[in-house]
Amino acid sequence: MGFKELFNGDFSASSSAHARVNLIGEHTDYTGGYVLPSLLKFHTTVQISKNNEKKYQVYSENFDEKKIFSDFIKSKNNDWIDYIKGCLFVFYDENKQIPNTHLNIFISSNIPMGRGISSSSALCVGVLKSLNIFFNTSYSDKHIAILAQKVERNYIGVSGGIMDQMVSSIGIHRKAFFLDCLSLKFELIDLPSDWVFCLVDSAVQRNLRDSAYNERYNQLKQAEQYLEAEYLGSIKPEQFNENKINDELILKRARHVITENARVLDAKECIINGNIKSFGKLMNESHQSYAKDFEASTEDVDMIVERSLRSGAEGARLTGGGFGGFTVSLIQKNNFATWKKNMKEFYDDENIFET
Ligand code: GLA
Repeated sequence: MGFKELFNGDFSASSSAHARVNLIGEHTDYTGGYVLPSLLKFHTTVQISKNNEKKYQVYSENFDEKKIFSDFIKSKNNDWIDYIKGCLFVFYDENKQIPNTHLNIFISSNIPMGRGISSSSALCVGVLKSLNIFFNTSYSDKHIAILAQKVERNYIGVSGGIMDQMVSSIGIHRKAFFLDCLSLKFELIDLPSDWVFCLVDSAVQRNLRDSAYNERYNQLKQAEQYLEAEYLGSIKPEQFNENKINDELILKRARHVITENARVLDAKECIINGNIKSFGKLMNESHQSYAKDFEASTEDVDMIVERSLRSGAEGARLTGGGFGGFTVSLIQKNNFATWKKNMKEFYDDENIFET
């Protein structure tokens, strides 16, 4: 069922936002560092029209569910509709001149949910961009990303960074998006055409992952206190005085972030200079650091990474917030068919996604 059949009329604003894969730079965004994600072809589309019956009606094609509401009170059981309510709340709060208008909203998406490729950011960016068109507010893509982060932080209550929203709002498919998460300055860099980035799904459920993410967030904030630094991102590996942290666990977490930032800067140079094999090596080092110092990997994920490398990938790592979700592998185009054939001995075709 499309918008027209469901809401008896045409939509007047529409926008799409894509999911992302982070190529390198994990948990470096909310610690004022660097990230290097890229957009995937998966996307969410949002269509909007005015509702004349004084209610908000939102239909999700994925859940095949229509929700009706007239206030923006968050539900008690983490419902998908909270993301939409959160977007409306933040959007109206941002500009008090905008008349609170009842709306029909239709959402369709082919993004696999809860697997670390930022389905929720794409949803928020998609909703906010279509509100931006509907109300003629002319917010920049960067401003939309900041509003989308407000939805997750202030309304949903997840302590995430700004990477997902920025790349989803501004990124371009087949380009790497280098972001300085403190200044929000970014560069779009062409990805090498003779290499493929491919995702493999570890199929680990999300709910376990949110609490672990928040725990890591707090540990890194503790590390910043030990080091008397506003952000870990401002500390280069050669300036890192490990003696200042007398807690072994916090030390390991900080070491991951500080070395990861250096790897992102090196990785960016590798792409610019066409030094893709070195890029793969940095991905491998990143995974080791993410697994050993940050302890964000799982046995299943480590197994995928190992099999991917044995199948001919130049680099492989867990991507996203950690504790399951997708791995990303870098494979030379000439080797891709062999790599995929090898991987299909262990994983179903529907768990392997080309970017
Ligand atoms: C999630 C968050 C991001 C970032 C990554 C880890 O995707 O939404 O802000 O922190 O985890 O790199």
